[in-house]
Amino acid sequence: MQIIISLDDYCKAYNLQIGVYRPLIYFVGSSELSSIAKEFKLKNGSFYPLPIYLPLRDKNLLDKVSGKKIDLIYENDLVGFIEVSEVYEPNKDDLCIDIFGTKDKAHPGVKYFFDEPKYFISGKPTIFKAPSFANEKHFMSPDQVKAEKLKRGFKTLAGFQTRNIPHRAHEHLQRTSLEVCDGILIHPLVGWKKAGDFNKEAIIRAYKILIDNFYPKNNVIFSLFYSPMFYAGPREALFHALVRKNFGCTHFIVGRDHAGVGNFYKLYEAHEMASNFADLLDIKFLLLREPYYCKVCGTIVSDKHCSHSKNMICKISGTTVRQSIIKGNIMPDWLIRNQIANVLSKQDLI
Ligand code: ADX
Repeated sequence: MQIIISLDDYCKAYNLQIGVYRPLIYFVGSSELSSIAKEFKLKNGSFYPLPIYLPLRDKNLLDKVSGKKIDLIYENDLVGFIEVSEVYEPNKDDLCIDIFGTKDKAHPGVKYFFDEPKYFISGKPTIFKAPSFANEKHFMSPDQVKAEKLKRGFKTLAGFQTRNIPHRAHEHLQRTSLEVCDGILIHPLVGWKKAGDFNKEAIIRAYKILIDNFYPKNNVIFSLFYSPMFYAGPREALFHALVRKNFGCTHFIVGRDHAGVGNFYKLYEAHEMASNFADLLDIKFLLLREPYYCKVCGTIVSDKHCSHSKNMICKISGTTVRQSIIKGNIMPDWLIRNQIANVLSKQDLI
């Protein structure tokens, strides 16, 4: 018997196998899905903030797969198998409230979750044909990143999650982390993202400019992270940190509204949650305030080191960058480096 899997399912199965989501190494079942949502816990009691689940995409198989070894088919290719332990119907309404804090479908993560098939299956996947991204130039597994860290002699490595091209606030956070860490892992997420976010090619193109022309190359490891976004804000900040720990990061950067969307989360809610759970995660959080351009200081600062009034400051945000690109507006260099702005266009948005 076989089931068809999506690209996101395939990425998740491969990630489970290569240790990206450790300590989780299988797709969760019903009770674990709710214990993660309600208590941030796996069934063995380990801390875990977001569920890795596998939807059953063919409902005709509902009564047929439990307890069986099922082949996994991606785009007509046999890529692996799964030993199915449970087929279940998650209570999506309850789960959304716990995971996202809302069941409003205006939230893109909630909509994605509701759009997933009605039934999920649990079990440990075995992937014998790796996804094509595993051979791409900009992909590194957790073991490869850890080997690179060792080779470069880094004792400390800061993880930087992003779903965007780099603007000046991102750059400020990255430079700040390099003041306290030996290296940085710039790790853009390129799995499923909402419409309007940047595509993978634009992110690679933009970061190449920043890394090749501005950063000391030896201090930066650049690799792509193939996993879907949840847009679950503070909870996802914990998940992003846990994952980057698996890649050898000793520190993790959390800026303002990490993995947030619209006004669903408070600006520094992820900082609060990271502080509350820091002990369970065994990674040091770099909780950094919002960088902005101050006309008086003439540079990028934050409210930790600039005293000027609101009318002297210019906010930096990915939303402004995306909207300016759509409208064809010229962006100031304090918002995004000109060299980077020059290589971006509307076609780079999903
Ligand atoms: S995210 O969904 O991956 O968090 P984004 O790529 O914009 O979105 O952000 C990457 C990291 O930079 C996150 O830690 C986020 O909190 C931080 N960040 C993004 N923009 C800003 C900003 N203007 N000020 C402070 N932090 C920011």
